[in-house]
Amino acid sequence: MAISPEMITQAAIASFAQSDNPRLKQIMQSLVKHLHAFAQETHLTEAEWMAGIQFLTATGHKCDDVRQEFILLSDTLGLSMLLVAMHDGAQSGATEATVLGPFHTPDAPAMASGSDLSNSAPGEPLYVTGRVLSADGKALAHARIDVWQADAEGLYDVQRSELGGNRRARGVVESDAEGNFSFWSVLPEAYPVPTDGPVGQMLVANGRHPWRPAHIHFLIEAQGYQPLVTHIFREGDRYLDTDVVFGVRPSLVGKFVAHKKGNAPDGRVMTEDYWSMDYAFKLQPI
Ligand code: BEZ
Ligand code: FE
Repeated sequence: MAISPEMITQAAIASFAQSDNPRLKQIMQSLVKHLHAFAQETHLTEAEWMAGIQFLTATGHKCDDVRQEFILLSDTLGLSMLLVAMHDGAQSGATEATVLGPFHTPDAPAMASGSDLSNSAPGEPLYVTGRVLSADGKALAHARIDVWQADAEGLYDVQRSELGGNRRARGVVESDAEGNFSFWSVLPEAYPVPTDGPVGQMLVANGRHPWRPAHIHFLIEAQGYQPLVTHIFREGDRYLDTDVVFGVRPSLVGKFVAHKKGNAPDGRVMTEDYWSMDYAFKLQPI
């Protein structure tokens, strides 16, 4: 009797039936089901699947201690952001989450609130003020606010070998008794995700651009609350609607206000024009 494609799919699904790990069994059976449906729907040829295998092999070869091309693939296919959106607690009034991205470092310098984190990063000065609150509006003191961003040239400090590991436009500040915090940095600019690997080739082959709209990353932690991983995006950025990793949520677009030189709100005398941005972050209880 000839074996039909449906019989192959059923046999492959059934091959996991004896698994004694119910979650692994569910994931593997669903993966096989959808993988086979994908091949059927697209009438995938063996040559096309071989090209796919070569692409995945190249993706693996591009990975090393600091470069994770598979995460970039997950990001650019929208899978990373889908998982974030599926699991975040924003329904209850908390700030929406977005992707962590590859440029977070665990060793950002701790600075007093109000400090200048820029460390000579190129860019126009930016004064950021914020509050950390519970989803129902209670001020959260002693929250840890871990911040990182690209500079005016669209580069993170970790992408600049000339810095020799020194940190720039990155730091950790703490909220005060009223949940307030502030810092100085530079106005972030849009930047492309790394395009010198197979994911970059995939974007080009499909006529997609590699750009992320300008943003500042925040990882906010407070005792008794779920950590919040998010960004605040620059209002008006040309890539807000086409972020290559699908990370933009309208509630995360911040107002960046331009100011003429003079006295800044914290008393700093600015000899050049500067910007400010204010945002209230709301955390979800554990
Ligand atoms: C980032 O925002 O840092 C980022 C996120 C996903 C892929 C590449 C960069
Ligand atoms: Fe980023």
